[in-house]
Amino acid sequence: MANIVNNPEVYFSGLIPERDEILKQLEYEAEKENIPIAGPVVGQLLFVLARAKGAGNILELGTATGYSAIYLGRACAPAGGRVTTIENDPEMAARAIKNISRAGLGKTVSVIESEVLQTLPGLGELFDFVFMDIEKKDYNKALSLVTPVSKPGCLLIADNTAFADAVEFNQAISHSQAWDSVQLFSYIPMHSALNDGLCFGVRTRQL
Ligand SMILES: C[S@@+](CC[C@H](N)C(=O)[O-])C[C@H]1O[C@@H](n2cnc3c(N)ncnc32)[C@H](O)[C@@H]1O
Repeated sequence: MANIVNNPEVYFSGLIPERDEILKQLEYEAEKENIPIAGPVVGQLLFVLARAKGAGNILELGTATGYSAIYLGRACAPAGGRVTTIENDPEMAARAIKNISRAGLGKTVSVIESEVLQTLPGLGELFDFVFMDIEKKDYNKALSLVTPVSKPGCLLIADNTAFADAVEFNQAISHSQAWDSVQLFSYIPMHSALNDGLCFGVRTRQL
């Protein structure tokens, strides 16, 4: 049997990459105000996946203060990619616009202040990378609206899929005609106190 390092949680927490001032400030505000941001491990995961995919048109559902949008923007900006992120709380949307601009990503990331379920059908463009991070009860409806705006090969990342409200979404994507997917159920350091799950899907088929 292979030996596992002692206390993997502490061990892997020590390997999380350093963040710059803007990300550290957003982490501090999230902690202080209880804002559920993705955190540095999922942030870095989004960066790695979006860069590896060469994502050119990214859609984010749920902006909050712009923390994960900054990771996504930094992943695609060097190749001229774009991020559209949707947030229905006007105060959060305003904060995100300021933070994204401070991060130098004002031209890369557009914040739309609106309700995802109303806005998706009218977006009129196709995406190759989607990060879903809104109310979990809306995930299933959002999936049916994301599918028609996703290109073949689109990568979908849905956060917190172990939450009870994501059960319908999990059923739908696992039986989907359009997506192949996998669920990861693991503790992610500094992400959540819960083992809260991440779903990865790839758009492999037409409906
Ligand atoms: C988990 S937070 C997003 C965190 C962000 N992705 C990050 O990691 O920095 C979810 C955000 O989505 C917004 N939201 C929830 N349901 C929404 C919906 N149906 N339409 C638009 N925004 C929504 C909430 O106001 C909240 O700010």
